[in-house]
Amino acid sequence: MLENQIKNVIRDIKDFPKPGIIFKDITPILKDQKLCSDIVDEFVLQIKDLEFDAIAGIESRGFLFGLMLANKLNKPFIPIRKSGKLPFKTIQQSYDLEYGSAIIEIHEDAFEPNSKILIHDDLLATGGTVEATSLLIQKMKGEIAGYSFLISLDFLNGKEKLRKFSENNFSLANYQ
Ligand code: PRP
Ligand code: MG
Repeated sequence: MLENQIKNVIRDIKDFPKPGIIFKDITPILKDQKLCSDIVDEFVLQIKDLEFDAIAGIESRGFLFGLMLANKLNKPFIPIRKSGKLPFKTIQQSYDLEYGSAIIEIHEDAFEPNSKILIHDDLLATGGTVEATSLLIQKMKGEIAGYSFLISLDFLNGKEKLRKFSENNFSLANYQ
């Protein structure tokens, strides 16, 4: 089963980037071309009934499968980046972190108003990053078609935070 294959290949790194965190390292997946293409195929299957115009991927690990998936589906890919990285005119959204706050940005011409956007990231934890991304898409008058994640840490209840934007939430490796 693909979910088990993914879980077997993900490497848990204790106390990274800070004490108390067990980091899910997906880099071993990227070394396995067959597993990468199986993952993309499974995403394609999960979202087959979803209508959307583009995929927005969140820096940086959301770029990996987000771009592969967009390319496979012949859809545009939109990078959502941390503050100060995008070169053209941007729209911003700030959000709270455990300590302090952060800003994410999108190019102001990333998509047309009323476009349906699938938001992709590698991992859903508290949902703070993807909630901010959702607010950013709404600021740009986009419609949130749904979410796709490689990994969901279900015990952190991130999915609850996203229900108000869309009920469509797909994830391949889920940790209860
Ligand atoms: C990680 C992960 C998600 C986010 C999830 O990114 O890739 O983007 O955190 O956390 P949340 O649901 O609690 O917001 P990180 O900020 O570590 O950056 P990276 O993707 O650039 O490595
Ligand atoms: Mg990230």
